[in-house]
Amino acid sequence: MYDFQPDADLAKPELYRQLADAAAALTEGESDGVANMANIAALMREFVPDLNWAGFYRTIGGELVLGPFIGRPACIRIPLGQGVCGAAAASGETQLVDDVHAFPGHIACDAASRSELVVPVMRDGTVVAVIDLDSPLPARFDRDDAAGIERLAVVISDRI
Ligand code: SME
Repeated sequence: MYDFQPDADLAKPELYRQLADAAAALTEGESDGVANMANIAALMREFVPDLNWAGFYRTIGGELVLGPFIGRPACIRIPLGQGVCGAAAASGETQLVDDVHAFPGHIACDAASRSELVVPVMRDGTVVAVIDLDSPLPARFDRDDAAGIERLAVVISDRI
């Protein structure tokens, strides 16, 4: 049994350090990217409070394709440049959205989502995937969350 649990009441930087360490340990020596993304999605649910969706979209053939996630069923293919995920993939920049209803072209996969954080996963200078976190709370994510998921993206970039 794997028992990766965050310590209670951690400040965000330490929480995300523990998440990155857990992801590194859980994917160590495993070459199957789908298995690793599935476990990382499960870890994000364990470590990050107030999420209704967390997972991956991969860059395949010039579009984003749904990968392993936790949450409700989601749209499968997203063109680069469309929605929050497509903006992150097209720009290579983290997208921190306090109010998804105010984001032009936001793609609603779960009507409960109110705020969103999308972080590109880079390998050899290209975006190979994005990590997408959704919350039912408005303005759930801040720069500490973004920095924490960016750290996770670096740790896992050659394991997915
Ligand atoms: N809201 C995202 C689509 C993916 S779902 O949130 C899982 C977007 O606008 O790209």
